[in-house]
Amino acid sequence: MLINSPFLKTLSGESIFPRPVWFLRQAGRYLPIYRKFAELIPDFWERCFAPDIASEISTFPIQDFPVDAVIFFSDILTIPHVLGQKIEFRKGEGIAIDNCDPFSLLDNYNINQFHKDLFPVYQGVTMTRLKIGDDIPLIGFAGAPWTLLTYIVGANHNDRIGYTLEYGLKNPTLFTELLKRISDIIAQHLCNQVSAGCDVVQIFDSWAGAVPEAHYDEWLFQPWQRILDKVRAYSPKTPCILFPRSYRGSPNDFAHLQNLTALHLSEDMNIEDYVNKVPEHIVLQGGLDPLALLEDEKTLVGKVQNLLDITRSRPFIMNLGHGVPPEAPLENVRKVIEVVSAYC
Ligand code: CP3
Repeated sequence: MLINSPFLKTLSGESIFPRPVWFLRQAGRYLPIYRKFAELIPDFWERCFAPDIASEISTFPIQDFPVDAVIFFSDILTIPHVLGQKIEFRKGEGIAIDNCDPFSLLDNYNINQFHKDLFPVYQGVTMTRLKIGDDIPLIGFAGAPWTLLTYIVGANHNDRIGYTLEYGLKNPTLFTELLKRISDIIAQHLCNQVSAGCDVVQIFDSWAGAVPEAHYDEWLFQPWQRILDKVRAYSPKTPCILFPRSYRGSPNDFAHLQNLTALHLSEDMNIEDYVNKVPEHIVLQGGLDPLALLEDEKTLVGKVQNLLDITRSRPFIMNLGHGVPPEAPLENVRKVIEVVSAYC
């Protein structure tokens, strides 16, 4: 029964030992079976938009490891993709994104068309929910407004983030409007995933660390709040996790956010400071350096134990500070789970 899930119990504020554990990008290239699938179906968008394939990939991690949650296999760029921006994933080269007029991309958006275009993703969610059974929670996700704008506005420019920063500084009113519009679209996408069967949602602000302090409120906190409020209004009990990767402000800043269940930390955020300063009702998750997975066993075990020690005093979910590196050995991923399971 889901009600017994250590992950959900922790999200409801219980400090559970052993700690629940799952990994960012746990359904990715470090898994031989994922690489085999990727060869069979080389088009990344096909992997995301064929419900039987996306749901099958989502279950790969639990076939190999006793992780405490499944994250649905998809991508944060599905939103600009269905809005009509041309985005290609090229093997070994990363992504190629066409430049577009951000305002018309977000202005021409039609809610019915959006639902129709993303329907295969929601079908994939429902199929995953059925495949994984009643014991494991399913996480849905979306990119955060600022991070999605770095792809929509920054697109094909050499310095994607630098270009987006400059655009935001030069066109403040327009930028605020773009943030509002994309926030509403993101909130809709998260609510749709909840209605299709997700038990938890996570918002990825992968480039939060690039925002200048003077714009924390307008570019980060206000858009996050807008989304959290909408998801919570739609589904009052769904836990919402926020990943403000590499955020450079103070842990105290998160005290003002309403409707936030948990904060996912990256390895470059001061974990001890977060443990000491984030209000009690916000659960902490993550923080393990993904590169620890490439170290020898002794170093890896030491780093996992150290993180468990630092976070002992509060509800905590073990995870990485960013995705599993494609070259991570499977036995090291397994080792992390083993160490976490033995730590009481
Ligand atoms: O965590 C999971 O297992 C669920 C699936 C997931 C993917 N992407 C699948 C994926 C999640 C949660 C994401 C989020 C995502 N996507 C983020 C936010 C988190 C982060 O990494 O900062 C971002 C910025 C993206 C955008 C993205 N997706 C890029 C820039 C790339 C290409 C570079 C790269 O890492 O390969 C991707 C591709 C992608 N998304 C892969 C996977 C498994 C690997 C490519 C492939 O399978 O061919």
